[in-house]
Amino acid sequence: MDYKKYIADRIEIDGVSADEIYSSLAFPPNTETGDYALPCFKFAKALRKSPVMIAQELKDRYKTDGVISEVSAVNGYLNFKVNKTALAAEVLGAVLSSGERYGASDAGNGKTVCIDYSSVNIAKPFHIGHLSTTVLGSALYKLFKYLGYNVVGINHLGDYGTQFGKLICAYKHWGDRQEVEKGGIHAINDLYVRFNNEADEAMESEAREYFRLIESGDKEANEIFEWFKKLTLDYVRGIYDKLGVNFDSYAGERFYSDKMQPVIDELRDKNLLKESEGAQIVDLEEYGMPPCLILRSDGATLYATRDLAAAYYRKKTYDFHKCLYVVAYQQNLHFRQIFKVLELMGNEWAKDLVHVSYGMVSLEDGAMSTRKGKVVWLEDVINKCIEKAHCIIEEKNPQLENKKEIAEKVGVGAVIFGALYNNKIKDIVFSYDKVLSFEGETSVYVQYTCARANSVLSKSGEFSGVPEGYSPNPQEFEVIKQLAAFPETLAESADKYEPSYIARYAVDLAQKFNKFYIDCKILTAEGDAKAFRLNLTKATLLTLKNALSLLGIGVPEKM
Ligand code: ARG
Repeated sequence: MDYKKYIADRIEIDGVSADEIYSSLAFPPNTETGDYALPCFKFAKALRKSPVMIAQELKDRYKTDGVISEVSAVNGYLNFKVNKTALAAEVLGAVLSSGERYGASDAGNGKTVCIDYSSVNIAKPFHIGHLSTTVLGSALYKLFKYLGYNVVGINHLGDYGTQFGKLICAYKHWGDRQEVEKGGIHAINDLYVRFNNEADEAMESEAREYFRLIESGDKEANEIFEWFKKLTLDYVRGIYDKLGVNFDSYAGERFYSDKMQPVIDELRDKNLLKESEGAQIVDLEEYGMPPCLILRSDGATLYATRDLAAAYYRKKTYDFHKCLYVVAYQQNLHFRQIFKVLELMGNEWAKDLVHVSYGMVSLEDGAMSTRKGKVVWLEDVINKCIEKAHCIIEEKNPQLENKKEIAEKVGVGAVIFGALYNNKIKDIVFSYDKVLSFEGETSVYVQYTCARANSVLSKSGEFSGVPEGYSPNPQEFEVIKQLAAFPETLAESADKYEPSYIARYAVDLAQKFNKFYIDCKILTAEGDAKAFRLNLTKATLLTLKNALSLLGIGVPEKM
């Protein structure tokens, strides 16, 4: 049962929706006063009454029962105490009976969510800047699936543009088939960098010709291009495998080559296209934005043109309920523009397009960036984290079996969690020491808590079910309440496109469990207390694992 909902359903405030009451219910900082609290300050304006009065009146009207045993009004807060015995039995029952599916729902049944994420650029480095889009998108993918949605993960490849002409030109001049085959994306990138440093006007013009050849379907140019694409994808797939990331479609920009013309025609038919200095644009001045460029003066299409075509294609193909674009905030304007253009074209579904914008990641340890030029390759960051995890394990627990496997889970988890822990819009400075700390707000801490729970359970042997009528002590009850909050955390996380809520939830639960673990004996407790605590430990372990797995992080048995 959702206790917040139970309470919210029993409160009526004029002009305030049940949803708002629901989302306003919080855990009070001081558990003496109550288990849930409704701050009444924000209703004061609408009701033209003081928060103190509102809380008092709501209290007088609220009828307590077997679920909510006590209600009080204190300083503008309406506080609720729940029947702890009933809540504990119910929550543990719910977690243990749903196991790996606790918190899953069918809320999304019949609805499709498209998620455009990671969207790598062919032949360009897959660098630290791609970390957030990849892990955010992947977490949202897993989360929406868990909530019953049909999800389509789309890697909108950057595989279109004049740079491919340059690349082929560079390859023709300086490249060697075997070397490129061996060096893969790094070799291709080197060619590209060299072109940009050394190409003269003759080569530039050759490059334009190669681009034209790709476009016109020339066999050789396309073969080289497809080969570069394959090398890039083979490479990034290796990283996706490590991070547990999946896609259903790799339809990139080039896929829309033949799908742009109908959109351009429609823009023209709807009188939205305007000529400006030879180019074709959609004027957005009225909406406070610069024009959206559709065709360059030489007739070439743009990034935006392909995104318009892609939106149409996705709507037609998937009939999405929402289409998310997990792309850094540098592209805020781009998405505002294309969403606006689609709206002006009369598509009511334009409102279902969402730019899930996020901040930048930089490295605290700048040392790495010099090794391979300016770019910090994501692969190097992941490998370094795994290596460091290995050293830490070697130091802390050298007897451990499968150290390599564990280091991989810990290292990869730290990279993902490091990128997801903060509110997504914040810029983050990635620090190896921070993300790998056993004590901080880290995946390592959560994984370690799981190992601790696992160890308790492996020592306990068989144990009986949740004892009836058991009244939990405060430490136990804190864990119970946190467990109860998992389903609503998932719903809020999906609603706000914020996997960080799940990451924070996991740390909170781990902290509460550890407090319980330190304060209360488990294996040496007796009777009902022992049975209850073992069940609580099991439920916590399940929920922590679920939370981490939604973020793409595995949990080692031992650490
Ligand atoms: N490849 C682009 C970049 O690296 C991101 C593409 C995002 N998706 C989109 N539909 N525009 O900037």
